[in-house]
Amino acid sequence: MELTGKRITLGVTGGIAAYKAAELVRLLIKQGARVQVAMTEAATHFVTPVTFQALSGNTVFSDQWDPRVANNMAHIDLSRDADVLLIAPASADFLAKVANGLADNLLSTLTLARDCPLLVAPAMNRQMWENAATQRNIATLRGDGVTVIGPARGEQACGETGLGRMIEPEDILAEVIAFFQPKHLAGKKLLLTAGPTFEAIDPVRGITNLSSGKMGFAVARAAQEAGAEVTLVCGPVSQPTPRGVMRIDVISALEMHTEVMQRAATQDIFIGVAAVADYRPATAAEHKIKKDGSAAPPIELVQTPDILADVAALPSPPFCVGFAAESQNLAEYAQKKRAAKKIPLIVGNLIQDGFGGDNNTLILFDDNGQRPLSPAPKIELARQLVAHIANLLENR
Ligand code: PMT
Repeated sequence: MELTGKRITLGVTGGIAAYKAAELVRLLIKQGARVQVAMTEAATHFVTPVTFQALSGNTVFSDQWDPRVANNMAHIDLSRDADVLLIAPASADFLAKVANGLADNLLSTLTLARDCPLLVAPAMNRQMWENAATQRNIATLRGDGVTVIGPARGEQACGETGLGRMIEPEDILAEVIAFFQPKHLAGKKLLLTAGPTFEAIDPVRGITNLSSGKMGFAVARAAQEAGAEVTLVCGPVSQPTPRGVMRIDVISALEMHTEVMQRAATQDIFIGVAAVADYRPATAAEHKIKKDGSAAPPIELVQTPDILADVAALPSPPFCVGFAAESQNLAEYAQKKRAAKKIPLIVGNLIQDGFGGDNNTLILFDDNGQRPLSPAPKIELARQLVAHIANLLENR
């Protein structure tokens, strides 16, 4: 429930993507938001107000002169009662109206009368999007502090392919959630690792571990929401990339080391969430190792480079944060790792809590002592970690 208590006025304008706004209402409500829908007259040709009314549980307004509004001030009431006004889909015509301050229907009037932030998710034909007039309007809106979400590239209802599709409801939801997060790391560059590594024995076998990547991806998302420019180097995982995060996929510890070391010196923050293999086979067999009845073949192991320690040893290192997963003596082992790698902050978790699941329990160890974070979804803990890092950076 990441939007509990938030009041969202959703404006729906005329376009085929209006049908996706119905799903968006469902998703927003599932996250605890209170949604009030207002539609343009054109939008009602695509989806009826009854659909939005049933999904939102609130009366839907589309007419400025609606006799149900006792004071005839729907345009004021709808905008005053919101934490954010979200227009999805936002047609080219509607964006042009907002950019130029026009107020000729209920939705454009309440948009002009709003005293809350405005988010728009454009949806239109690719030529309409590329048109100089639309681009001018979008630049004006951005200059006025409006948050523009999307559009996406892809197949369009008209049969053409290009930029102009409304981004998917799940992605709009993620943007709305991100919008409400404090921007602790605005302007910061953050690099992190996530997931396991895979150290090949032969073309089909290898040494790896049970890290799912969930904790690292949650930290990447939380840092992006907090305004950081995030680069995520991850081992083999099947997690979706958080919006706005640059992802680099690797397989082995050596590849992870190379990708991290190429970028680390220009970062403000580095976080090692990955469960990196400490050892790898000295050589990987070119062909599949066959069972030929003789003794099992020995596998000679060599140590992998310690990515976190190498980043921390740079002449001018970023603020380095490590993770430690232990099955016992968490505080003692985590502190030892913090000292050995010479890093200001290490995040401890128990193996049984951390690996694989959606929730975790963390303890943060730094120069000020230790701070436990209660059991919670990984994204919630990641947001608390990001706030803690921002605080340490500020008071450094
Ligand atoms: O991916 P999930 O399923 O969500 O699980 C999350 C997690 C349990 C993997 C994560 O929360 C976690 O604890 N990651 C660190 C695992 C660990 O114990 O790593 P380590 O003790 O081997 O390494 C300590 C630190 O050094 C880590 O920050 C690690 O990224 C880093 N390291 C380790 C070895 C190495 N060769 N290079 C490194 O950078």
